[in-house]
Formats: sequence, C-alpha cells, structure tokens
Amino acid sequence: MRITVLTGAGISAESGLPTFRASDGLWEDHRIEDVATPEGFARDPELVHRFYNMRRAAASEAQPNAAHRALAQLQDHHDLTLVTQNVDALHERGGSRDVIHMHGALDGALCAECDHRWPAPAIMSPDDRCPNCAAPATRPDIVWFGEIPYHMDRIWTALEGADLFVAIGTSGNVYPAAGFAQHASRNGVECVELNLQTSMNARDFDRQIMGPASETVPEWVATLL
Ligand code: OAD
Repeated sequence: MRITVLTGAGISAESGLPTFRASDGLWEDHRIEDVATPEGFARDPELVHRFYNMRRAAASEAQPNAAHRALAQLQDHHDLTLVTQNVDALHERGGSRDVIHMHGALDGALCAECDHRWPAPAIMSPDDRCPNCAAPATRPDIVWFGEIPYHMDRIWTALEGADLFVAIGTSGNVYPAAGFAQHASRNGVECVELNLQTSMNARDFDRQIMGPASETVPEWVATLL
C-alpha cells in the first residue's frame, strides 16, 4: 500500500520534547516573531541561536519512542513517504529512512548569504562563519514563518498518489501542512488522524484515532503488518 504520513510535535512529546501550542509549550515562553521569523533573526541573532541551541541539546538527549519505532517498521512493509514538521532526528534514530523534514532540521546549518548547507555544531553563534563563503551569516537550517517549506513538490505528489494519508500529533494550525488532508481527500485518498486532542482541521479526515502516540501508532501500524 502507498501510505503518506505527516508527523508533528505530538509524536515526540512522549520523548520529552515540548510541543508548541500546549499550555506548557514552546510558544508560551517564546514569541514566534522573535525566534521563528527571518525578521526576528535579523533583530537578535544571539537570542535566536540560543533558542535553537537549547532545542538542539534537548533533541539530542531525547530518545525515540514506540511511535517513532512503529513507523520505521511500517516502512519495511509498505511504500511509505514519511513527512515530518519536526526538526528533531527521532524518526531517523528510531530506524526510519529518507525522512522528509519539511520545516528543516536542528542538525543542519545554512548560510543566509550563499545558501551553503553543512552539519550544525552543537552550539551555533552569530560569529560563526560560513565554511563556503566566510560570511558571518550562519543560521539554523530551519524553515521560519514567512519562508517556503522544503520538498513541497515531492510531498504534493506523494499525497496525490497515496492510498492512505495519516496525520499524527499535529494541531492543524500551520499551512501548508494543515492543508494536506484536504488536498489528499480531494484526490480520493482516505485520510486518518491520530492525535491526543482534536485538531483545527479534524473535519478534513475520514476518521480519528484519539490517544497518546506511543500507544495509538503501534496499534494502528500492527493492523497493517
Ligand atoms: P502543535 O504544538 O501545534 O500541536 C501538537 C499536537 O500534538 C496537538 O494536536 C496535540 O494534541 C498533539 N499531542 C500532544 N501530545 C501528544 C501525544 N502524546 N500523542 C499524540 N499527540 C499528541 O505542534 P505542530 O502541529 O507540530 O513550525 O506544529 C506545527 C508547526 O508549528 C511546527 O512545525 C512549528 C510550529 O510553529 C515552525 O516552527 C515553522
């Protein structure tokens, strides 16, 4: 079966990484416009690097959970396209291959001057120089608000060609990911949501499986093996 899966912060919550919009989430303590926009980075690169250095450290200490591992198992049995909005590497560390990081990744660095990419050091700073052009313009390779997510052509194609689209642990607040179910549905694809709480776009899915991802994902995957 051809399956396209979209994951969000909820799949990594039980690995100890905070989601964004929960009452104790990242957007309670940090203003989106300060740490997740190009304008915020231009205003205060030190603050932005500190935010992502902290998240990089937390993500490297976290361990993949049963939901990440179940999706790796699914890939062994089906034609799976795994798209994540998450910037951690828990899918890869749980055994998944060829993960599409549409919002970038904490382990990547990007030069804002020449677009060169390289592996991010544990601690990034505004003084770092690009190894390609030497400009002091290094930034985390993260897609910020107002920027275009990565690999969109490949993702739309995978949505249109799927037999099944499944969204896991995402609140449906951020486009284009929040529009994937509607797009897949219009192409005749069955859409299923696995989530802890009802998402903003719940009506775009044919059915919901509610509960913590570490339980619902392995149970759902088991039905397909
Ligand atoms: P949100 O914080 O908006 O939503 C997290 C979702 O995970 C919610 O629907 C929760 O109900 C669900 N959830 C929480 N714990 C869970 C658990 N144990 N099992 C299953 N589900 C659980 O995070 P995202 O939807 O991923 O983008 O946010 C989307 C984007 O907004 C992020 O990629 C980020 C953010 O701003 C950028 O920074 C560009």
